[in-house]
Amino acid sequence: MTVKTFGVVGAGQMGNGIAQVAASSGGLNIIMNDIADQFVDRGYNTISKNLDRLVAKDKLTAEQKKEILGRIKKSTSLEDMKDADFVVEAATEREDLKLDIFRKLDAICKPGVVLATNTSSISITRIAAATKRPDLVIGMHFMNPVPVMKLVEIIKGLATSQATYELTEALAKQFGKTPVECNDSPGFISNRVLLPMINEAVYALMEGVGTAKAIDDIMVLGMNHPMGPLALADLIGLDTCLAIMDVLYKGFGDSKYRPCPLLKKYVDAGYLGRKSGRGFYDYSK
Ligand code: CAA
Repeated sequence: MTVKTFGVVGAGQMGNGIAQVAASSGGLNIIMNDIADQFVDRGYNTISKNLDRLVAKDKLTAEQKKEILGRIKKSTSLEDMKDADFVVEAATEREDLKLDIFRKLDAICKPGVVLATNTSSISITRIAAATKRPDLVIGMHFMNPVPVMKLVEIIKGLATSQATYELTEALAKQFGKTPVECNDSPGFISNRVLLPMINEAVYALMEGVGTAKAIDDIMVLGMNHPMGPLALADLIGLDTCLAIMDVLYKGFGDSKYRPCPLLKKYVDAGYLGRKSGRGFYDYSK
C-alpha cells in the first residue's frame, strides 16, 4: 500500500513528535488524533514551537514551517482514521487502553492498513491478537525527544508479516531515522537494557548512596551518557518508567526487575517528571 495519509493516535510528547517528523518528511498528510481538543491543541502548539526553534536556527524557512503545519489535520474522533494509509498509536502506556484502541482501529481502518504501536514495552503479539489483522500489526518505537533521536526500534510480533516490516522500515527511513529490527519480548531491547539501569539509580537514591545530582553526575562524567539516569527518567516520565518496569517484572517473573518503591512513591505523589513540573528534579521554576 502506498502511504499518503499517516495517522497518529495520541498527541502527547511521543505522538506530537511522531506527527512532526512525519509531516516534515515530505509529501505525507498527517491526522493527529487525541481524545479532546485541549490535548490535540497542546500537541499542535508543541510542534509549532519546535518548528519555530528550527526557523530561528535557519534550519527551516517560515514558509516551510507553514507548509509542515498545514499538513497536520487535528482530530478528536478515532473515526477519522478511516482515511489513513498507515496508523501509529502513541497513547498512554496502559495495556487495556491500547487493546481497546486497536480493536477500534481494526474496525475503522481500511483493509490492508498497517496498525503500528509506539508502545515502550507491551507485547506486540498480544496487541495484534486483539485485531483481525495480526500480520499488519507491528511495533514502531520512537525515542524521546522524537525530532532529535535517530533510532526507531521496529518490533515484529509473532504474526507480523515481512511486508509489514518492510513498509514500516521504509517509513522510518523516510522520516530520517535509522530503523533497527528486533523480536517481541518484554521491554524489547531498548527498555530491557535502559530501564533496569534507571531503576537501579532510583534504588541508589532511595538507599542514600548519593544525591540525585551525584548519581547523575557519575553517569554523565564517568560513562559519557548525555544525561544522568534520573534526569532521563524525568524526561521519559516516571509513570512510563514504572509501567515499563511492571511489564519487565511480570513478563519475566524475575525479581531483578522489581520496580523500586521510591519510583512507585513518586508516581503516587504525582511527581511524574518534566511533564508534571516535578520528578527527581524540580522544573516548576
Ligand atoms: N524537541 C526537539 N528538539 C530538541 C528537544 C525537544 N524536546 N530537546 C532538545 N532538542 C534539540 C535542541 O534544539 C538541539 O538542537 P541543535 O543541535 O540543532 O541546536 C539539540 O536537540 C541538542 O539539545 P541541547 O543542546 O538543548 O541539549 P543537549 O545537547 O543536552 O541534548 C538531549 C538534549 C538530546 C535530550 C540529550 O540530552 C540526550 O540525548 N539525552 C538522552 C535522551 C535519551 O536517552 N532518549 C531516549 C529515552 S528512552 C525512550 O524514549 C524510549 C522509551 O520507551 C522510554
